[in-house]
Amino acid sequence: MISLGGKTAVVTGAGRGIGRAVAGLLIREGVNILAFSRTRSALEILQAEEDAGPGRCAVCPGDVTSEDDVRRAFEEASAFGTPDILVNAAGLALFGPLGRCSFKDWNELIGANLTGTFLMCREAVRTMGSQGHIVNIGSLAGFTPFTNSAAYCASKYGLVGFTRALSMELRAEGREGLRVTLIHPGSTDTGLWDGQNWSPPAHDMLRADDVAGAVLYALKQPPNASVDEMRLLPVKGIL
Ligand SMILES: NC(=O)c1ccc[n+]([C@@H]2O[C@H](COP(=O)([O-])OP(=O)(O)OC[C@H]3O[C@@H](n4cnc5c(N)ncnc54)[C@H](OP(=O)(O)O)[C@@H]3O)[C@@H](O)[C@H]2O)c1
Repeated sequence: MISLGGKTAVVTGAGRGIGRAVAGLLIREGVNILAFSRTRSALEILQAEEDAGPGRCAVCPGDVTSEDDVRRAFEEASAFGTPDILVNAAGLALFGPLGRCSFKDWNELIGANLTGTFLMCREAVRTMGSQGHIVNIGSLAGFTPFTNSAAYCASKYGLVGFTRALSMELRAEGREGLRVTLIHPGSTDTGLWDGQNWSPPAHDMLRADDVAGAVLYALKQPPNASVDEMRLLPVKGIL
Protein backbone atom coordinates (compact mmCIF):
# COMPACT_ATOMS: atom_id res chain seq x y z
CA MET A 1 0.00 0.00 0.00
CA ILE A 2 1.34 3.41 -0.94
CA SER A 3 0.99 6.67 0.97
CA LEU A 4 -1.24 9.30 -0.61
CA GLY A 5 0.07 12.15 1.56
CA GLY A 6 0.73 15.36 -0.40
CA LYS A 7 -1.16 14.24 -3.51
CA THR A 8 -3.81 16.41 -5.17
CA ALA A 9 -7.32 15.13 -5.93
CA VAL A 10 -10.39 16.46 -7.68
CA VAL A 11 -13.50 14.90 -6.11
CA THR A 12 -16.88 15.45 -7.76
CA GLY A 13 -20.12 15.08 -5.84
CA ALA A 14 -18.11 16.10 -2.78
CA GLY A 15 -20.99 17.95 -1.11
CA ARG A 16 -23.01 14.89 -0.15
CA GLY A 17 -23.17 11.12 -0.02
CA ILE A 18 -20.38 8.98 -1.46
CA GLY A 19 -18.36 11.94 -2.76
CA ARG A 20 -18.52 13.61 0.66
CA ALA A 21 -17.24 10.43 2.32
CA VAL A 22 -14.44 10.04 -0.24
CA ALA A 23 -13.36 13.67 0.17
CA GLY A 24 -13.21 13.39 3.96
CA LEU A 25 -11.29 10.11 3.90
CA LEU A 26 -8.73 11.46 1.43
CA ILE A 27 -8.23 14.65 3.45
CA ARG A 28 -7.58 12.50 6.52
CA GLU A 29 -5.01 10.56 4.43
CA GLY A 30 -3.18 13.83 3.73
CA VAL A 31 -4.51 14.42 0.21
CA ASN A 32 -5.24 18.01 -0.86
CA ILE A 33 -8.74 18.08 -2.27
CA LEU A 34 -10.55 20.23 -4.77
CA ALA A 35 -14.16 19.59 -3.74
CA PHE A 36 -16.58 20.00 -6.63
CA SER A 37 -20.38 19.94 -6.84
CA ARG A 38 -23.07 22.55 -7.51
CA THR A 39 -24.07 23.62 -3.99
CA ARG A 40 -21.48 25.92 -2.42
CA SER A 41 -22.92 25.65 1.11
CA ALA A 42 -22.52 21.85 1.16
CA LEU A 43 -18.89 22.17 0.06
CA GLU A 44 -18.22 24.77 2.73
CA ILE A 45 -19.65 22.44 5.40
CA LEU A 46 -17.25 19.72 4.19
CA GLN A 47 -14.38 22.22 4.32
CA ALA A 48 -15.24 23.26 7.90
CA GLU A 49 -15.80 19.69 9.12
CA GLU A 50 -12.48 18.46 7.70
CA ASP A 51 -10.50 21.49 8.81
CA ALA A 52 -8.20 19.32 10.96
CA GLY A 53 -6.61 17.90 7.79
CA PRO A 54 -3.85 16.91 7.36
CA GLY A 55 -4.89 17.39 3.74
CA ARG A 56 -6.34 20.74 2.72
CA CYS A 57 -9.70 21.36 1.08
CA ALA A 58 -10.52 23.97 -1.55
CA VAL A 59 -14.09 24.32 -2.73
CA CYS A 60 -15.19 24.80 -6.32
CA PRO A 61 -18.94 25.03 -6.92
CA GLY A 62 -19.72 23.86 -10.43
CA ASP A 63 -21.69 21.55 -12.68
CA VAL A 64 -20.03 18.47 -14.17
CA THR A 65 -22.02 19.01 -17.38
CA SER A 66 -20.35 22.40 -17.99
CA GLU A 67 -17.08 22.33 -19.97
CA ASP A 68 -16.10 25.68 -18.44
CA ASP A 69 -16.76 24.52 -14.87
CA VAL A 70 -14.78 21.31 -15.43
CA ARG A 71 -11.82 23.21 -16.88
CA ARG A 72 -11.98 25.64 -13.94
CA ALA A 73 -11.95 22.76 -11.45
CA PHE A 74 -8.64 21.45 -12.78
CA GLU A 75 -7.16 24.96 -12.96
CA GLU A 76 -8.10 25.66 -9.33
CA ALA A 77 -6.87 22.24 -8.16
CA SER A 78 -3.47 22.96 -9.71
CA ALA A 79 -2.89 25.54 -6.95
CA PHE A 80 -2.04 22.42 -4.86
CA GLY A 81 -0.01 20.88 -7.71
CA THR A 82 -0.90 18.97 -10.89
CA PRO A 83 -3.86 16.73 -9.99
CA ASP A 84 -2.87 13.12 -9.28
CA ILE A 85 -6.34 11.74 -8.56
CA LEU A 86 -9.82 12.24 -9.98
CA VAL A 87 -12.82 10.64 -8.25
CA ASN A 88 -16.07 10.94 -10.19
CA ALA A 89 -18.81 10.58 -7.58
CA ALA A 90 -21.25 13.21 -8.84
CA GLY A 91 -24.47 11.65 -10.04
CA LEU A 92 -28.16 11.22 -9.52
CA ALA A 93 -30.94 8.69 -9.86
CA LEU A 94 -34.49 9.05 -11.15
CA PHE A 95 -36.60 5.90 -10.89
CA GLY A 96 -40.00 5.29 -12.46
CA PRO A 97 -41.74 3.95 -15.58
CA LEU A 98 -40.18 5.14 -18.83
CA GLY A 99 -43.43 6.76 -19.94
CA ARG A 100 -43.07 9.22 -17.07
CA CYS A 101 -39.42 10.06 -17.78
CA SER A 102 -39.38 13.51 -19.37
CA PHE A 103 -36.77 14.52 -21.92
CA LYS A 104 -35.46 16.96 -19.29
CA ASP A 105 -35.13 14.14 -16.71
CA TRP A 106 -33.30 11.97 -19.25
CA ASN A 107 -30.87 14.75 -20.14
CA GLU A 108 -30.21 15.61 -16.48
CA LEU A 109 -29.52 12.00 -15.59
CA ILE A 110 -27.32 11.18 -18.59
CA GLY A 111 -25.64 14.57 -18.11
CA ALA A 112 -24.69 14.08 -14.46
CA ASN A 113 -23.87 10.34 -14.62
CA LEU A 114 -22.26 9.98 -18.05
CA THR A 115 -21.51 13.28 -19.82
CA GLY A 116 -20.07 14.73 -16.61
CA THR A 117 -17.75 11.75 -16.22
CA PHE A 118 -16.67 12.12 -19.85
CA LEU A 119 -15.83 15.83 -19.37
CA MET A 120 -13.95 15.20 -16.12
CA CYS A 121 -11.99 12.24 -17.52
CA ARG A 122 -11.14 14.18 -20.69
CA GLU A 123 -9.70 17.00 -18.59
CA ALA A 124 -7.81 14.46 -16.48
CA VAL A 125 -6.17 12.71 -19.45
CA ARG A 126 -5.24 16.12 -20.86
CA THR A 127 -3.59 17.34 -17.65
CA MET A 128 -2.37 14.34 -15.65
CA GLY A 129 0.27 12.95 -18.02
CA SER A 130 1.35 9.35 -17.47
CA GLN A 131 0.90 9.05 -13.71
CA GLY A 132 -2.27 9.32 -11.69
CA HIS A 133 -5.53 7.62 -10.93
CA ILE A 134 -9.11 8.06 -12.13
CA VAL A 135 -11.87 6.41 -10.09
CA ASN A 136 -15.39 6.30 -11.50
CA ILE A 137 -18.35 5.37 -9.32
CA GLY A 138 -20.59 3.06 -11.33
CA SER A 139 -23.39 0.94 -9.94
CA LEU A 140 -24.75 -2.59 -9.93
CA ALA A 141 -27.21 -1.04 -12.41
CA GLY A 142 -24.27 -1.02 -14.83
CA PHE A 143 -24.55 -4.75 -15.43
CA THR A 144 -27.88 -5.78 -13.88
CA PRO A 145 -31.08 -4.21 -15.18
CA PHE A 146 -33.73 -3.10 -12.69
CA THR A 147 -37.36 -2.25 -13.41
CA ASN A 148 -38.27 1.44 -13.42
CA SER A 149 -34.63 2.25 -14.05
CA ALA A 150 -34.17 2.39 -17.84
CA ALA A 151 -32.51 5.82 -17.89
CA TYR A 152 -30.39 5.11 -14.80
CA CYS A 153 -29.29 1.73 -16.20
CA ALA A 154 -28.46 3.36 -19.56
CA SER A 155 -26.20 5.85 -17.80
CA LYS A 156 -24.43 3.17 -15.77
CA TYR A 157 -24.09 0.60 -18.58
CA GLY A 158 -22.66 3.46 -20.64
CA LEU A 159 -20.20 4.23 -17.87
CA VAL A 160 -18.92 0.64 -17.94
CA GLY A 161 -18.12 0.79 -21.66
CA PHE A 162 -16.65 4.27 -21.36
CA THR A 163 -14.38 3.37 -18.42
CA ARG A 164 -13.16 0.05 -19.86
CA ALA A 165 -12.40 1.69 -23.22
CA LEU A 166 -10.54 4.55 -21.53
CA SER A 167 -8.44 2.10 -19.53
CA MET A 168 -7.53 0.17 -22.72
CA GLU A 169 -6.70 3.40 -24.54
CA LEU A 170 -4.30 4.59 -21.83
CA ARG A 171 -2.56 1.21 -21.72
CA ALA A 172 -2.25 1.15 -25.52
CA GLU A 173 -0.62 4.60 -25.34
CA GLY A 174 1.90 3.36 -22.77
CA ARG A 175 0.20 5.49 -20.10
CA GLU A 176 -0.69 2.56 -17.84
CA GLY A 177 0.67 4.58 -14.90
CA LEU A 178 -2.50 6.66 -15.21
CA ARG A 179 -4.70 3.98 -13.68
CA VAL A 180 -8.46 3.74 -14.10
CA THR A 181 -10.77 2.07 -11.59
CA LEU A 182 -14.51 1.49 -11.80
CA ILE A 183 -16.30 0.76 -8.53
CA HIS A 184 -19.81 -0.69 -8.62
CA PRO A 185 -21.50 -0.16 -5.26
CA GLY A 186 -24.76 -1.79 -4.34
CA SER A 187 -27.45 0.20 -2.56
CA THR A 188 -25.84 2.82 -0.35
CA ASP A 189 -27.61 4.86 2.31
CA THR A 190 -27.35 8.41 0.92
CA GLY A 191 -29.68 11.25 -0.04
CA LEU A 192 -29.89 9.74 -3.54
CA TRP A 193 -32.86 7.75 -2.25
CA ASP A 194 -34.71 10.80 -0.87
CA GLY A 195 -38.00 11.36 -2.67
CA GLN A 196 -37.84 8.09 -4.67
CA ASN A 197 -41.02 5.97 -4.80
CA TRP A 198 -39.19 3.01 -3.30
CA SER A 199 -35.92 2.37 -1.53
CA PRO A 200 -34.31 -0.63 0.18
CA PRO A 201 -34.30 -0.59 4.02
CA ALA A 202 -31.64 1.91 5.06
CA HIS A 203 -30.17 -0.44 7.67
CA ASP A 204 -29.48 -3.10 5.00
CA MET A 205 -27.62 -0.73 2.68
CA LEU A 206 -23.91 0.05 2.47
CA ARG A 207 -22.73 3.23 4.17
CA ALA A 208 -21.07 5.96 2.09
CA ASP A 209 -17.94 5.35 4.21
CA ASP A 210 -17.86 1.73 2.99
CA VAL A 211 -17.66 2.92 -0.62
CA ALA A 212 -15.05 5.52 0.31
CA GLY A 213 -12.98 2.72 1.85
CA ALA A 214 -13.13 0.82 -1.45
CA VAL A 215 -11.95 3.93 -3.31
CA LEU A 216 -9.07 4.31 -0.87
CA TYR A 217 -8.09 0.64 -1.29
CA ALA A 218 -7.85 1.12 -5.07
CA LEU A 219 -5.86 4.35 -4.73
CA LYS A 220 -3.36 2.84 -2.30
CA GLN A 221 -2.27 -0.05 -4.53
CA PRO A 222 1.45 -0.11 -5.41
CA PRO A 223 2.40 1.14 -8.90
CA ASN A 224 2.57 -2.39 -10.35
CA ALA A 225 -1.04 -3.23 -9.39
CA SER A 226 -4.37 -1.97 -10.66
CA VAL A 227 -7.86 -2.48 -9.25
CA ASP A 228 -9.66 -2.30 -12.60
CA GLU A 229 -13.13 -2.97 -11.22
CA MET A 230 -14.68 -3.76 -7.88
CA ARG A 231 -18.21 -4.81 -6.94
CA LEU A 232 -19.07 -3.81 -3.40
CA LEU A 233 -22.36 -5.29 -2.21
CA PRO A 234 -24.35 -5.00 0.98
CA VAL A 235 -23.84 -8.24 2.86
CA LYS A 236 -27.40 -9.32 1.98
CA GLY A 237 -26.55 -8.99 -1.74
CA ILE A 238 -28.64 -7.09 -4.28
CA LEU A 239 -31.38 -5.38 -2.28
N1 LIG B 1 -26.63 5.68 -3.20
C1 LIG B 1 -26.61 4.51 -3.85
O1 LIG B 1 -27.37 3.56 -3.54
C2 LIG B 1 -25.66 4.32 -5.00
C3 LIG B 1 -25.39 2.99 -5.40
C4 LIG B 1 -24.53 2.79 -6.47
C5 LIG B 1 -23.98 3.85 -7.13
N2 LIG B 1 -24.26 5.12 -6.72
C6 LIG B 1 -23.67 6.22 -7.48
O2 LIG B 1 -22.83 6.99 -6.66
C7 LIG B 1 -22.79 8.33 -7.15
C8 LIG B 1 -23.06 9.28 -5.98
O3 LIG B 1 -24.35 9.00 -5.47
P1 LIG B 1 -24.74 9.35 -3.95
O4 LIG B 1 -25.50 8.20 -3.44
O5 LIG B 1 -23.56 9.84 -3.22
O6 LIG B 1 -25.78 10.53 -4.23
P2 LIG B 1 -26.05 11.89 -3.40
O7 LIG B 1 -25.92 11.64 -1.94
O8 LIG B 1 -27.33 12.41 -3.93
O9 LIG B 1 -24.85 12.85 -3.84
C9 LIG B 1 -24.70 13.21 -5.18
C10 LIG B 1 -23.65 14.30 -5.29
O10 LIG B 1 -23.47 14.63 -6.67
C11 LIG B 1 -23.60 16.03 -6.83
N3 LIG B 1 -24.12 16.31 -8.18
C12 LIG B 1 -25.26 15.86 -8.74
N4 LIG B 1 -25.41 16.33 -9.98
C13 LIG B 1 -24.31 17.11 -10.22
C14 LIG B 1 -23.88 17.89 -11.31
N5 LIG B 1 -24.61 17.98 -12.45
N6 LIG B 1 -22.71 18.56 -11.22
C15 LIG B 1 -21.97 18.49 -10.08
N7 LIG B 1 -22.33 17.77 -9.02
C16 LIG B 1 -23.50 17.09 -9.07
C17 LIG B 1 -24.52 16.48 -5.70
O11 LIG B 1 -24.34 17.82 -5.30
P3 LIG B 1 -25.15 19.06 -5.90
O12 LIG B 1 -26.59 18.63 -6.03
O13 LIG B 1 -24.91 20.13 -4.89
O14 LIG B 1 -24.51 19.33 -7.21
C18 LIG B 1 -24.04 15.58 -4.57
O15 LIG B 1 -22.91 16.13 -3.94
C19 LIG B 1 -23.83 8.42 -8.27
O16 LIG B 1 -23.18 8.27 -9.51
C20 LIG B 1 -24.70 7.20 -8.02
O17 LIG B 1 -25.30 6.72 -9.20
C21 LIG B 1 -25.07 5.38 -5.65
